[in-house]
Amino acid sequence: MKEQQVWFITGCSSGFGHALAETALEHGERVVATARNPQQLNDLVLQYGTRILALPLDVTQSFDIQAAVSQAIATFGQIDVLVNNAGYGVFGAVEEVSDADIKQQFETNVYGSLNVTRAVLPHLRRQRSGHILNISSSGGFVGFAGAGIYCASKFALEGWSEALAKEVAPLGIRVTIVEPGAFRTAFNSALVSPDQAIEDYAATSGQMLQWLDQMNGQQPGDPKRAATAILQAVHHSAPPLRLLLGADVLDVVHAKLEAVAADLAAWKDISIDTAFEGLAVSAIGG
Ligand SMILES: NC(=O)c1ccc[n+]([C@@H]2O[C@H](COP(=O)([O-])OP(=O)(O)OC[C@H]3O[C@@H](n4cnc5c(N)ncnc54)[C@H](OP(=O)(O)O)[C@@H]3O)[C@@H](O)[C@H]2O)c1
Repeated sequence: MKEQQVWFITGCSSGFGHALAETALEHGERVVATARNPQQLNDLVLQYGTRILALPLDVTQSFDIQAAVSQAIATFGQIDVLVNNAGYGVFGAVEEVSDADIKQQFETNVYGSLNVTRAVLPHLRRQRSGHILNISSSGGFVGFAGAGIYCASKFALEGWSEALAKEVAPLGIRVTIVEPGAFRTAFNSALVSPDQAIEDYAATSGQMLQWLDQMNGQQPGDPKRAATAILQAVHHSAPPLRLLLGADVLDVVHAKLEAVAADLAAWKDISIDTAFEGLAVSAIGG
């Protein structure tokens, strides 16, 4: 097992980020734990001293990103594991959500993680090693009614993560997309919902919001155990591109894979029959 790696984690004030920082520290790693308010990391700083560097980082602020990455390198000399964890959920039917809430969701969940990654990549390329973990969601693979905007942000995260994995594999850098199901964090309390619901969506989006409210504090997933699973993936010689966390997410991902396979099979002949007459079709991307 590789030991004493340097982790850089966003959104460490609570939930997965805090659990992951704590678990990595318990295992002897060094951690750059970042949060909008780094005072929320005082417990870890008191306990772990010089093995933790607590830094302010709002992932929507490019100045914060550059400053945090520079300070991490100046302090520990390297970054081995980047965890893009900071994020939250904008819920409600696609039609119900405000323009401002959609924009802010993408600023944080998509541009935030993208910009942190782009700031860290030059260091990983120079090292010819590193592991980037992007915290997605079951909603990064499956679209749920009442979660269209959140799902769009996590689908976007998964899109560039999959592409990046192929670009950086030859450079010794790994990428893992983490898809948690329902975990007991502050996520359900922090979610943003529409100011005004549209009655026509009560049975779809309205039901999702009700479920999120009822689940708050009852989620089956334990963030500490998720953190242990993530550490196992980081220390594995062949980490997966996708790491699913929770039996609930396994169920919905399998159901989607089966539904997609059934659609592809049922429409195969029509799908194929669309090229210019007589032209051979080669693989996308060459
Ligand atoms: N819990 C679940 O069931 C679940 C399931 C699937 C995926 N996820 C994903 O897991 C990740 C972590 O969420 P969580 O469940 O641990 O919820 P959480 O306890 O609410 O933690 C979210 C963290 O993200 C931070 N954050 C939000 N906006 C930020 C910004 N602009 N800059 C920096 N930090 C920001 C929060 O900081 P503040 O304290 O400053 O707000 C907090 O530290 C998210 O990406 C979420 O989408 C969660």
